[in-house]
Amino acid sequence: MSKLWSGRFTADTAKEAQNFTESISSDWQLYKYDIRVSLAHAGALRKAKIISPAEYRKIAAGLKAVAKAIERGRIKFNPALEDIHMHIENALIRRIGAAAKKLHTGRSRNDQVATDIRLYLKDKLTLLSGQLSVFCAVLLEQAEKNKNLVMPGHTHLQIAQPVLLAHHILAYVEMFLRDRERLAGVLRRTDVLPLGSAALAGAAYPLDRQAVARELGFAAVSENSLDAVSDRDFLAEFQAAAALLMTHLSRMSEELILWNSAQFGYVELSDSYATGSSIMPQKKNPDIPELVRGKTGRVIGNMLNILTVLKGLPLAYNRDLQEDKQPLFDTVDTVLSCLLVMTGLWQTVRFNGVKMAEDAEKGFSTATDLADYLVRKNIPFREAHKIAGQLVRYCLEYDKKLTELSLPEYWKFSRRIGADVKTAVSLAASVNARDIYGGTAPLQVAAALRRARRRL
Ligand code: ARG
Repeated sequence: MSKLWSGRFTADTAKEAQNFTESISSDWQLYKYDIRVSLAHAGALRKAKIISPAEYRKIAAGLKAVAKAIERGRIKFNPALEDIHMHIENALIRRIGAAAKKLHTGRSRNDQVATDIRLYLKDKLTLLSGQLSVFCAVLLEQAEKNKNLVMPGHTHLQIAQPVLLAHHILAYVEMFLRDRERLAGVLRRTDVLPLGSAALAGAAYPLDRQAVARELGFAAVSENSLDAVSDRDFLAEFQAAAALLMTHLSRMSEELILWNSAQFGYVELSDSYATGSSIMPQKKNPDIPELVRGKTGRVIGNMLNILTVLKGLPLAYNRDLQEDKQPLFDTVDTVLSCLLVMTGLWQTVRFNGVKMAEDAEKGFSTATDLADYLVRKNIPFREAHKIAGQLVRYCLEYDKKLTELSLPEYWKFSRRIGADVKTAVSLAASVNARDIYGGTAPLQVAAALRRARRRL
């Protein structure tokens, strides 16, 4: 097949070269955006009197027909036509003839593809941030529904201090709200029109770039043509934001996997979001969070991928940049599917409040409260810390809980201890005591829930 750029060539492209350089096998996904970009460009050509109004109408109608044909699977993708831009131009020429050959005036695939992927990403960012909001809303519902459950908070995966389950869930909401903010930042820097930059030096025609930006819904036009055709910072930023978002999903998955184990037993995944084993009939496995954790590797890989592609590129466009798209599509699809499935999973999980409370009692999780109690009895914290530690050692030796010690036993360590110590070291008193902005006391968590709902 003779190529649209074949004028200066005397030999056909070798088959291997053709298959090696094609990108249609993945960039066909840009077709809708490519058509919109061509429509806007045709409008600019008409305004600049490079094409007549009649030619414009032919081109516009032709482009819309090509879009329909692609949608209906009527256009066969062919590696000989390289990429989606060539496919669409070729189909347009076949459809409307001469006028179509004027469409590429004052334009290069370099500024065209940069514009396409910005439009694509803008759409996907809106979709992703919408799904993040839905996910956070589901997390808030679970926090609300389980707002009275106490669980052991951990440090070093050792039981540390009791916290409310809702407080733990709200910690994830914070992470995901930051992710949403990061996506909004990426959107602002993606929202710039490269078209008009042509191959690298700017178009040699008086195209109204501002009008094109308005038509395509870009907030600004690019300042520098060399930068505009070779800039993929917005993709690197997106990949980084996505990698962090996936890292959060992965940490959450790790906890769901632990919590779902018999050893923890804090959570039960619903049957519709768990899988069985092909050999062990008793098993119900957390394959979904495991896959989310596993797919995080791919997304982090995609971030390294784009940075590595960019790091050695001289200005301006280089074909290396074609490699930006597969990781982009892959990250978008992966993150979206992970968010969707995790939303469903969280909608249907059930928490085991009894087991969580039992564990929260373990490991002397209220030993800090005992020290704080002694501080209230006018003992300096360092000394109080030591006394509480000695009491813990005593309990370990006699296999008792802090709440099971008698007053005379307490008195062996400090005469200032009174009968009120029992309530002071209870789970409820421990969480109630953390009545500080951002703390786990029920009143604070209820207020945090209200604030989170507002931020959503
Ligand atoms: N398929 C190419 C890409 O994705 C389009 C731009 C081609 N430009 C070029 N000068 N060969 O980057």
